[in-house]
Amino acid sequence: MDNLQLQELLQSMTLKEKFGQLTQITGELYADVDDRELVETGPEFSRHMLENDTLYTIGSVIGASSAKIINLIQSEYLKKSRLKIPLLFMHDAIHGYKTIFPIPLGLSCTWDASVLQKAAEETASELRASGIHVNFSPMVDLVRDSRWGRVMESFGEDPLLSGDLGKAMIKGYQKIREGQITPTGVAACLKHFAAYGAGIGGKDYNTVDMSLREFFENFGKPYEIALEEEPRFVMSSFNTFNGVPVTASQTMLKDILRERYQFDDLVISDWGAVAELQNHRVAQDGREAAELALSAGVDIEMVSTLYLEHYEAIIEQHPQLLKDVDAAVLKVLQLKNELGLFDNPYADESLEQEVIMNAMSLEAAEEAARRSCVLLKNENSMLPLRKEYKNVILVGPFAGTKELLGNWACKGSFDDVVSLAEGLMQADDSLTVAAYETLEDCPKNELDKCDYIIAAIGEHWGLSGEGHSSVKLELEDRQQHLIRAVKNTNLPYSCVCFSGRPLALQDIIDDIPSLLWCWYPGTRAGAAVAALLTGQATPSGKLTMSFPRYSAQAPVYYNEFSTGRPANGSSYSSRYQDCEIGPLFPFGHGLTYTGAEYSNFAISGRKITEDQELKVSFTVRNPSRYDYSEIAILYIEDLISKTVRPTREMKSYQVVQVPSYGKVDVELTITLEDLKYLNADLQRTVEPGDFRIYVNNLDHSLFTIEY
Ligand code: BGC
Repeated sequence: MDNLQLQELLQSMTLKEKFGQLTQITGELYADVDDRELVETGPEFSRHMLENDTLYTIGSVIGASSAKIINLIQSEYLKKSRLKIPLLFMHDAIHGYKTIFPIPLGLSCTWDASVLQKAAEETASELRASGIHVNFSPMVDLVRDSRWGRVMESFGEDPLLSGDLGKAMIKGYQKIREGQITPTGVAACLKHFAAYGAGIGGKDYNTVDMSLREFFENFGKPYEIALEEEPRFVMSSFNTFNGVPVTASQTMLKDILRERYQFDDLVISDWGAVAELQNHRVAQDGREAAELALSAGVDIEMVSTLYLEHYEAIIEQHPQLLKDVDAAVLKVLQLKNELGLFDNPYADESLEQEVIMNAMSLEAAEEAARRSCVLLKNENSMLPLRKEYKNVILVGPFAGTKELLGNWACKGSFDDVVSLAEGLMQADDSLTVAAYETLEDCPKNELDKCDYIIAAIGEHWGLSGEGHSSVKLELEDRQQHLIRAVKNTNLPYSCVCFSGRPLALQDIIDDIPSLLWCWYPGTRAGAAVAALLTGQATPSGKLTMSFPRYSAQAPVYYNEFSTGRPANGSSYSSRYQDCEIGPLFPFGHGLTYTGAEYSNFAISGRKITEDQELKVSFTVRNPSRYDYSEIAILYIEDLISKTVRPTREMKSYQVVQVPSYGKVDVELTITLEDLKYLNADLQRTVEPGDFRIYVNNLDHSLFTIEY
């Protein structure tokens, strides 16, 4: 259809049909389908008002999957709907649909936009082949607090990196060609706008209260950057922001999202969030809730159906809203048209089988998994396994399990997962590998011939994700005992850890000589991790989120502001009396088996100007037999500014492929823009003065530059 036809279609719609397009429900009301194919991610909402004449005006369905089911729902719907506008199907394929990639926090530890883009491309192909048109991903909520269960869905604590990686995923999902989503692409939904990751105390759905300066400098930045890639949707967040629930906030959704960040497409609420305005107690009833959300600029109501219940009264009282409603409905129609739904609303059921879990996506998932692992510690080079170690015992809750997908694993199945034990045996058939949940389960004669133990520890996947905030980030007692028991065998050993969040390991870290942090690696978990353990590849990921020493140290993050009493040995300084200063493992930390060597640091000048950017160059040498990607990171520190700034800010980074025994010259750029910050009046500014430059986590500054 051309735009004129879409306009005509809009003109032919009743007001109810328009509000129908702005409502999203789950699919079970349309067809009697296997409920395993219908995913619910929140509480139920009553549908008592969805009589047939309303039900067949609805615009989109959430959580249905598989081409067969979706086609069934679509055909039942189209049979009965007056205007026969096809339904849009939306889902949450956060880190893969059926082929599961590492959790987003793991993906972010690759720092490599191309890895995330590829993951998104493969996910989009699988989604589309199954009849799904919109993906509720990526989430770029900045996170600093490991207690929040949803850190697993994030890209960590740095605004620039989170924004860049979000952008890469949007690009991968939408696969835009000539301004249009291609037939194997899906519309991306950037979420959750905004600052959802900053809930007080790390508690999910909790209040957010922060200065606008902090928002624009940090928490808002990832959305601002990712929006440059033009996702078709933004999801508003559950939380309040400075006293107003975002679902009802004109400041957030109009002034900031639309005006300042120039977002011009569809805003969808989060699950039931319009109705929840009543729980926030800013709306006295459903009608007021709908009115507030609509006036704030929420175009589509997810799962609750208050728009449809109250539209007549709302429009009667606020006729000026009709213009916004028409604009939103037109965007929905345009998207359906862009996705080709008016030509063919159905998915090709035979194609689905071909596309899902094809060799290429599995390979991409394995590479992503390998590169997302972070080697946190490697004392006495306990990893990789030496060639002479032939009898290996895997012990711990993760030794033999296939439950390595992580939360939000969409249609991923444990049956498809390579376990760690399987991975090790496939990686090296000269190894004898036995897996036990506890050391007590291991027969004595096995232990007697054992050469090496790998303790497979971590936090169960179901303990992170939405609605899974925790106050206890320490490793379970029984797992700490396990590690000590392994140590007491006096056999060489190391630990691999699976977790959806950074854990607090201060009390056990001294008993762990080598620690490979695997997050949740997805379908190819065992294969990817085994390649690292056996030394076929080296770990190369770097942390994007700091690890607290103890639970109560959260939130802990690298870009803290300077204080009047910087942390030091004195008790009259900004520190905890019963905890060492700083995180256990900081942002940017990550080892390789041999360690890259940095040399030849140089800078193109010492003075930066409006039109004179500076180049920081250096050589990265790889003294190992592995080809791998080194992550080079550049930070700045503003020595004096009128308002307080973070002690370090990451401004540039590069993922550099360094061949084995080779070297690569790297050049990172600093522009004047990088030195700017928001002053007390929220103006972007830079004052003359000195700035220090750091590369990676080197403690001394490399250069001082001047503006
Ligand atoms: C989550 C969103 C998700 C939505 C739909 C909500 O509970 O906060 O991230 O996209 O459900 O499943």
